[in-house]
Amino acid sequence: METIDWSSLSFGYMPTDYNVRYTYKNNAWGEMEITDSQTVTMHIASTCLHYGQAAFEGLKAFRGKDGKIRIFRLDENAKRLQSSCRGIMMPELSLEKFKDAVITAVKKNERFVPPYESGASLYIRPVLFGTGEQVGVKPAKEYVFIIFVTPVGPYFKEGFKPTPMVILRQYDRAAPLGTGTFKVGGNYAASLVAGEKAHEMGYSAVLYLDAKEKKYIDECGPANFFGIRGNSYITPKSTSILPSITNKSLMTIAESLGMTVEQRRVPEEELETFDEAGACGTAAVISPIERIDDLDRNKSYVFSKDGKPGVICEKLYNKLRAIQYGDETDTFGWIT
Ligand code: COI
Repeated sequence: METIDWSSLSFGYMPTDYNVRYTYKNNAWGEMEITDSQTVTMHIASTCLHYGQAAFEGLKAFRGKDGKIRIFRLDENAKRLQSSCRGIMMPELSLEKFKDAVITAVKKNERFVPPYESGASLYIRPVLFGTGEQVGVKPAKEYVFIIFVTPVGPYFKEGFKPTPMVILRQYDRAAPLGTGTFKVGGNYAASLVAGEKAHEMGYSAVLYLDAKEKKYIDECGPANFFGIRGNSYITPKSTSILPSITNKSLMTIAESLGMTVEQRRVPEEELETFDEAGACGTAAVISPIERIDDLDRNKSYVFSKDGKPGVICEKLYNKLRAIQYGDETDTFGWIT
């Protein structure tokens, strides 16, 4: 068996032993298939290829000090995938089938769940897409659902260190009444040019403003945004952002720590008043934001001057990680 340097893993793809699949045909999902093949064969007129009929999820499994493997918020991911399926007219997968597939994929690749000390985790990627042929813009009649897993380190190369972000007004991620709230591939394709531009300029991600008024904070690259002011956790409410399960968990944790949680529209000007800010998501966990540059307005909102995460970000991060790795009892019922 190859040796893996667990503590220097980045967020990338590493082949693992097996992936798990279901096929949808004749109006029904079939039985689970376990395979070591890393490819799919599909019709040249598959709707996922032409019309972007594809959605995905992201969740993680963690190995604890006790050696046990814990999967974080499996049910929430299953529900969000069902919502994405409704959003682009794909057949929903039952919670039970989703759960069986996740657990099987993790068990079958147990040797790839990083050791506790490494701080890494096993990323679980479910993906569901139309494979039936259509040339007209219509939903497919056949679909494939796959779960593959891959061990990962931090999404942003800095890990849990403040990182700079940028507002680029010439790009939108999602329209107010579009598909932004669904985890569909097209949203991420739409973010590639802006993301690349930000990287070239030395930023980790784009902080998107709402597409209509360009006034309110929307999404933060592939993650949600939150700000901390005093004892308040403030995060945007919008019809175009993805409902992040990590953000939802952080809101619950913040409340349990006696903080006030506000989920509402957040105007850009309010950035000025935040003591701390962060991006959060399954891949990013919490990525503290060092500063946000608004290049068009020649403005810079600075949250970390000493290169260190703020105290509240640190507290939230530690609590979340403690639950995920099993260092602390999961009183919320989030772990499978
Ligand atoms: C996640 O946080 O799991 C995501 O889906 C972000 C990503 C596209 C890597």
